[in-house]
Amino acid sequence: MTYQKGYMGGPAKHLNQLPCKGLTLWGDCVHVAPGFVQILHKMIIIRACLGNLETEPLWWTTWKGSVHMSPNIMKKKRFLGKTAIITGAGSGIGRATAIQMAREGANVALFDLVNERTSVLEQKLNKLRKDCALAIDVDTSDEKRMEEAVRRTVEHFGGLDIVFANAGINGAVGPIEELSLSDWERTMSVNLTGTFLTLKYSIPHLKEKGKGSIIITSSINGNSRFASFGWSPYSTTKAGQVAFAKMAALELAKFKIRVNVICPGAISTNIDESTEFNEEVETIVIPIEFPEGAQPLADGPGKPENVADLVSFLASDDAIHITGAQIIIDGAESLLS
Ligand SMILES: NC(=O)c1ccc[n+]([C@@H]2O[C@H](COP(=O)([O-])OP(=O)(O)OC[C@H]3O[C@@H](n4cnc5c(N)ncnc54)[C@H](O)[C@@H]3O)[C@@H](O)[C@H]2O)c1
Repeated sequence: MTYQKGYMGGPAKHLNQLPCKGLTLWGDCVHVAPGFVQILHKMIIIRACLGNLETEPLWWTTWKGSVHMSPNIMKKKRFLGKTAIITGAGSGIGRATAIQMAREGANVALFDLVNERTSVLEQKLNKLRKDCALAIDVDTSDEKRMEEAVRRTVEHFGGLDIVFANAGINGAVGPIEELSLSDWERTMSVNLTGTFLTLKYSIPHLKEKGKGSIIITSSINGNSRFASFGWSPYSTTKAGQVAFAKMAALELAKFKIRVNVICPGAISTNIDESTEFNEEVETIVIPIEFPEGAQPLADGPGKPENVADLVSFLASDDAIHITGAQIIIDGAESLLS
């Protein structure tokens, strides 16, 4: 008999639970008789129409997931019973990470400024799994509100395991002498003070658990790239976040709390909405001739889901020996600029 090789992506122990005969397991791959894949897809559609995601067995989630998710997402349920705070969860990188973590079993507290995007995401995730998401209207640079938001999260979900300090703005962009003090302070307070407050109020709860994972979103700007003219406030905050993450990694290692910092290159999100260009910026630009194209690996900006994959890895026990790491995720963009 001829066999067709189909990628299943799920751990072998899940595949063992499939109510099907004639499967030969070989690593992450399974060999199935021709025609079986089509029957299986029909089964998936019928089962999906029946709904009730909450009570479905794990083998079904794995199979159904294979239709909608990338293989690396569907592999595991790494966050069952865990709670994550995700700041800036209403859009872009934070949103993609919230979706991925929730799909992998996490309860997610969605911290963002009040907006419809965040409450729509909360509803979407709660449909995926009942009561797994809680949207909290909070400005991460506001100490009182941050303290209260973390307290509400812990009360609601019963603890805290993962913190993704991700909220950020591009802020004011222009020549240094044209920037006002309030331009400067706003970027500092959202990107840097917001990160500090997120950690300050989360750490006691992670300590209580006896372990935890913190991931901070910095950028290639201010770290491996300095040619974004006029972006001095933003780049300064992004360099500051790396120093802060490394200091925190050492301070918290003895409590088994890992702290890592990621440095994305251009990612397709809504971040441009938070950019305030001063037209004088043109006067300080040094023309640079780039090779043709954008990011060598993707020939364009990355996707928020690419970053979510990295954050989920760092948040999980797969990264149990990784702390204090600064990881660039930019498709080699910063090697060119
Ligand atoms: N998109 C990129 O190209 C890129 C590159 C490098 C780094 N980053 C960083 O990634 C992080 C996420 O950005 P994104 O690209 O997903 O942008 P985004 O604008 O799509 O999402 C950011 C979210 O943060 C929220 N936010 C902003 N200020 C806040 C505050 N004070 N309190 C609470 N929430 C707040 C916004 O409402 C928004 O929902 C930022 O720290 C950004 O600097 C982005």
